[in-house]
Amino acid sequence: MTLNQTSLPKHVAVIMDGNGRWAKARQKPRRAGHRAGVKAVRATVEEAAKQGVEVLTLFAFSSENWARPEEEVHSLMALFLEALRREVDELHRNNVRLRVIGARELLNPGLVKKFGDAEEKTANNTGLLLNVAVAYGGRWDILVATKRIARKVADGEIEVDDIDEARLAAEMQLADCPEPDLLIRTGGEQRISNFLLWNIAYAELWFTDVLWPDFDAGEFHKALQYFAEKQRRFGQTGEQLAAAEC
Ligand code: FPP
Repeated sequence: MTLNQTSLPKHVAVIMDGNGRWAKARQKPRRAGHRAGVKAVRATVEEAAKQGVEVLTLFAFSSENWARPEEEVHSLMALFLEALRREVDELHRNNVRLRVIGARELLNPGLVKKFGDAEEKTANNTGLLLNVAVAYGGRWDILVATKRIARKVADGEIEVDDIDEARLAAEMQLADCPEPDLLIRTGGEQRISNFLLWNIAYAELWFTDVLWPDFDAGEFHKALQYFAEKQRRFGQTGEQLAAAEC
């Protein structure tokens, strides 16, 4: 099924939550939940590309996830490596451009190298842009952008009064992307958990109790349908928008 293109979000961001509970319900270790989560990633990427979504941004590992038990952090990093090894050729065949956002300096250099290779391989693809957020936090993103701006002021490149929202946004990880129109969170919690704090100012938020490994095309369609039914106002009144459409 292909949904109505006129009301399709350009950029969908996803907080993939519930892998641990999915595994626990099956008396399996947490890493089995993350492994099952990779399948849901594949299904979501395929469906986003099929529907014509331009950008998909997935929250794979947050700044706060470093606090998890060492064994789980290690198994997640190993899973990212394995997923890259298994999926990059297929992504490339499907014209997907892969990009990793986050604090690379905190990651294992071997993994960073593989991320770089995958980004390079898919750099000229013109289909879906897939951003995978690893060691990412919304506050970290704003902080890094702020430091870059401060450096420009210190170097005399710009004046303090030149700083505006556009300048700050231009220094952030997703500077070249349209802002997310739709944020999906699975796993039943209704919070942002330090994801794209700056970028989601006007995003529609859609929450589902479905645990991430069970997320599939059908569930994705529900989110897209919810988005299609929303009247997006950007602070204006419904009347103003109706008048602008005439
Ligand atoms: C949250 O579930 C999920 C994560 C912290 C990891 C997300 C990673 C994947 C889906 C695997 C691979 C990703 C890519 C992009 C290849 P949780 O562990 O917090 O679940 P819980 O709330 O039930 O404990």
